[in-house]
Amino acid sequence: MDAVFDIQTIQNKLYAHQYQKLGTGSGRRVYQLDPEYSEYVLKAAYNRKGYAQNQVEAYISETDDSPIFAKIFFCDPDYRYLIMERADRINNISVLFDYFQVSNLKELFTLPELNDIILKYNLLIADLRRPVNWGLIDSRPVIIDYGFTKMVKRKYYSFF
Ligand SMILES: Nc1ncnc2c1ncn2[C@@H]1O[C@H](COP(=O)(O)OP(=O)(O)O)[C@@H](O)[C@H]1O
Ligand SMILES: [Mg+2]
Repeated sequence: MDAVFDIQTIQNKLYAHQYQKLGTGSGRRVYQLDPEYSEYVLKAAYNRKGYAQNQVEAYISETDDSPIFAKIFFCDPDYRYLIMERADRINNISVLFDYFQVSNLKELFTLPELNDIILKYNLLIADLRRPVNWGLIDSRPVIIDYGFTKMVKRKYYSFF
């Protein structure tokens, strides 16, 4: 069963520094929640770009049922906070080559399961080739940072 998230409590704990930070991106800080929510992470936007990325990720996750996107379970109406399934780090893009049985990036991005979503959501290949934007859930590769589309880049480039 999906968990229920009380964002007010989560925000209070965040302000009280009760969550361990897992990483910082160009627009969001990412935290580990309490142990009973260990399958999830909190992404907190800290600038306009982060809000835009939360909005795009929430939209894509809701619209698309491709298993390649790490799923999102909650997003507040202002897009400040987003709760996503937690993935293990991957250190090398070759993990993807092994999983998808390809030998290079060109082959990888030609696969229908990747090519289709890249075209559909205008995802940036420059981002998808970086292992930091991927993770593993039960040994299955997922994209954990898919909010940075061409639209977001155009719209927010001047702000960061
Ligand atoms: N679903 C996740 N599971 C585990 N760690 C994550 C997840 N999403 C993000 N992170 C960590 O937080 C960092 C920043 O998140 P990211 O989504 O890339 O933010 P930004 O969009 O601001 O670049 C990532 O590089 C990664 O280390
Ligand atoms: Mg990132």
